[in-house]
Amino acid sequence: MQIEEKQIVINGQNIILRSPGRQDAKSFSEVRDITYRETYFLARYPEETDFTAEAAEAMISDIAERREEFLIGAFRKKQMIGCVMVLKEGNHIKFRHKAVIGIFILQKYCGMGLGRQLMEYAIENARKTELEQLKLGVFDDNVAAIRLYEKLGFREWGREPHAFKLKDGSYRDEIQMVLFLS
Ligand SMILES: CC(C)(COP(=O)(O)OP(=O)(O)OC[C@H]1O[C@@H](n2cnc3c(N)ncnc32)[C@H](O)[C@@H]1OP(=O)(O)O)[C@@H](O)C(=O)NCCC(=O)NCCS
Repeated sequence: MQIEEKQIVINGQNIILRSPGRQDAKSFSEVRDITYRETYFLARYPEETDFTAEAAEAMISDIAERREEFLIGAFRKKQMIGCVMVLKEGNHIKFRHKAVIGIFILQKYCGMGLGRQLMEYAIENARKTELEQLKLGVFDDNVAAIRLYEKLGFREWGREPHAFKLKDGSYRDEIQMVLFLS
């Protein structure tokens, strides 16, 4: 699904929110790579990801063809600086009413309101589809993300104890949250 372009201003800078095209594959793969190195709040360690520009291009083309799934990139001067993804867990009939939402932003653009704008635009677009709910999982110590999701109306429905084990041997619970769209 393609998302209409929207211009916003973050910290005095013009940022475009739009679906990435195939020409953005390299930028998409780079921003994902950097974010994996900047934070442990994503599901994998950087060495476990192999999101090459080719893989990014394939993903962009694939998702553009799907009816209710989408990517929204935040672009500054053609460089992607963050991205929100709305993806289904599968296309089984019983799962078709819901999708998983995920977001990542380069650290230097965090804390300026971009996360909120990206999430709000994704929710607005999800509401135009047949989707009835957006769900997500978040590390229990990811305070910024949890606050953001709560402000947008997501509510906690479950918690998986010790869902993540970090390299230092410490554990994090996963908080599972949902937003009903109607
Ligand atoms: C989580 C993330 C998307 C938030 O985006 P952001 O652009 O930093 O967030 P915003 O500036 O839009 O802030 C939105 C709300 O989050 C909360 N927030 C943001 N940064 C915070 C911080 N450091 N501490 C506490 N709350 C914070 C605030 O409540 C804020 O609301 P307000 O604008 O009314 O004050 C971003 O930090 C990120 O990409 N982190 C790395 C990857 C990640 O953790 N992804 C989520 C995995 S589930």
